[in-house]
Amino acid sequence: MEVYSEKQQIIAAIVALKAKKQTLGLVPTMGALHQGHLQLVEKALENNSKVVVTIFVNPTQFDNNSDLAKYPRTLDKDVELLKKMSKNDIIVFAPSVKDIYEGKTESKKFDFDGLEFEMEGKFRNGHFDGVGTIVKHLFDIIKPDTAYFGEKDFQQLTIIKKLVEKHHIPVKIVGCKIHREPNGLAMSSRNTRLKPEYKTAAPFIYKTLKTANQYFITKSAGKVTEWVEKQFAMNKLLKLEYFIIADVKTLKAVKRKSNKKKYRAFIAVYADDIRLIDNIALN
Ligand code: PAF
Repeated sequence: MEVYSEKQQIIAAIVALKAKKQTLGLVPTMGALHQGHLQLVEKALENNSKVVVTIFVNPTQFDNNSDLAKYPRTLDKDVELLKKMSKNDIIVFAPSVKDIYEGKTESKKFDFDGLEFEMEGKFRNGHFDGVGTIVKHLFDIIKPDTAYFGEKDFQQLTIIKKLVEKHHIPVKIVGCKIHREPNGLAMSSRNTRLKPEYKTAAPFIYKTLKTANQYFITKSAGKVTEWVEKQFAMNKLLKLEYFIIADVKTLKAVKRKSNKKKYRAFIAVYADDIRLIDNIALN
């Protein structure tokens, strides 16, 4: 399996592949790969001649230095996992911060038509400028035909679609369903950092989302939100940061339900110092 750590090397490899008319899938990750990532890679392998998996913990999307420092980094293990999927058709790109940012580790400013100010944007200052910066840079380097992102970060997925639309980037964006542990917890690289008692407590997040989904059939968004907030107020281990029922297109909190619109419930919760997010499609 080819593993590149420098932009110039992978650019040369991509030029050679494009000359052979190979189709390219891209799966951008920050590593610490789990089944959710592997599902994206599997889908990408099904639909492309070659798949580039990028492994890069992007500093500009973190608003908290301790979260960045503690983010799991497991490159050797990640490469082994990918080798088991395909030695010939997967290319890994795991650059350094210096190689990507060339000494200027800063985000560019983006206008995502307000999507960036909802939910995560309210709690993670500059996060989506960081995501936009790295994802656009990866698109420029790799020039994929298709790129794959998980619906766990549904707001990120929506924003990346907006990035592609506004910057006329010729790439198809595919969103993939959330991959869950058997107990319902959404898979995340951060789960590896959960202490045992928090690991046991965390499936409560999805359990609550599923009940909220049922309640939303007959109750207003306000009533469902109140109910969810009460459940977390009674939970000794999990601290709710937000629960919002939002329109899937605008990501704005719903005021009055309409049969013509589609909604999703979004949640962010602290389990100790680990921030977990999840979401569920409603109606
Ligand atoms: O979802 C992630 O892992 C990251 O936000 C991404 C898309 C790889 C950009 O760093």
